[in-house]
Amino acid sequence: MSKLSCKILGTTFSNPIWLGSGTISDNKERVDKLLKSKAGAIIPRTTRFKYAPGRKAHPSYHLDINIDEKWIRNCEWTGNLINYWQSYLKELSKSKKIIMSVSGRDISNCLKVCKIIDKYNFPFIEINISCAHSNEINGFITRNSKHISTLVKILKKNIKTPIALKLGHSDFIVSLAKIAEESGIDAIVAINTYGPVIDFDISTGCPKLTLGIGNGKGGLSGKTIFHIALTDVVDLSQNLNIPIIACGGITKPEDAIKMIMAGASAVQIYSAVHLAGRQGIKFLNKFILDFNTWLDKYKYEDINDLKGMLLPLLSRPHHMGPIIPKYNQRLCIQCQACVNICLEGAISLLDNKIVINKNKCISCGACVSVCPTKALK
Ligand SMILES: Cc1cc2nc3c(=O)[nH]c(=O)nc-3n(C[C@H](O)[C@H](O)[C@H](O)COP(=O)(O)O)c2cc1C
Repeated sequence: MSKLSCKILGTTFSNPIWLGSGTISDNKERVDKLLKSKAGAIIPRTTRFKYAPGRKAHPSYHLDINIDEKWIRNCEWTGNLINYWQSYLKELSKSKKIIMSVSGRDISNCLKVCKIIDKYNFPFIEINISCAHSNEINGFITRNSKHISTLVKILKKNIKTPIALKLGHSDFIVSLAKIAEESGIDAIVAINTYGPVIDFDISTGCPKLTLGIGNGKGGLSGKTIFHIALTDVVDLSQNLNIPIIACGGITKPEDAIKMIMAGASAVQIYSAVHLAGRQGIKFLNKFILDFNTWLDKYKYEDINDLKGMLLPLLSRPHHMGPIIPKYNQRLCIQCQACVNICLEGAISLLDNKIVINKNKCISCGACVSVCPTKALK
């Protein structure tokens, strides 16, 4: 067992950094290539029993990508059917790294697909009820407690492979996840794309894309949704007793570490790998290497030592007394970021030294946040 290995729902994975479900794992050829990466698991694009009416092909256009800001808005609405995957399932299950993702919109068809997958020995099955733009078009099943409890109960009654439910963000994500837990679900994956949200081109004043669902909207993913996902993971970890697999906005190893400290058993990355294009596998491998280096730097010998370490600290009472930042001149590079950010005018640079006026300081912490060298603590 390496320090990165983690046991989830009875399967030991080589590490907790996984590729989330999406286009880049939409066929066997792509999955075979991805299996050669160092990712602890690969989740192929969501499959289903049959195409919904009118949804055999994607709308044109269906991807709005912003490389600089590291986000994607997407409106894909199809993927390979289980009929396509069927002949590969035996081989894929042997890797112990593939988790099949199945659409949970149509309960009886979801059961049919899960029964096919259940014949093999996959670590678990991920049920997707949370794609933002599908929810917009067909009703938000990701927020439908009756759908969730019926779906989970039927699957748990008929399927022996463990089942994880992939939820989207909503104000009710914790209560919905609890309903799924009470109905027997084995794990929660959170979150899927957010929204869907609008964006448009200000040079024309027009929506950038059709994105298929009208109003120029698409499901938002990537860096911009990280804190939404992180907050959901904290809330879920505090309220549930089953594994939480974090997904949403993870673009660097530090994000994955935060998710695990927030209680996640593993993390899934999608957009950051998609945005790396043909360098996706290289990106994943470097991510895992850097993740490992971070653990070494901070002397963690087991990934499980990080898990949930944030949670008990969240209940600390508010500190209402003043705390004046401590200054370490040796670390200071005199960039004056602290001087600039202090709205109270409590900080100044005098004789190459930062001076804090204790009478003006209101202990907001802004100067500490912006100090690049931790000269202020
Ligand atoms: C182009 C694209 C296709 C996606 N397809 C699927 C899918 O088939 N099934 C699924 O569960 N999630 C799908 N997702 C959602 C991702 O797996 C992930 O939950 C979401 O994008 C948030 O994570 P990220 O910010 O790391 O991308 C897709 C996302 C994108 C951008």
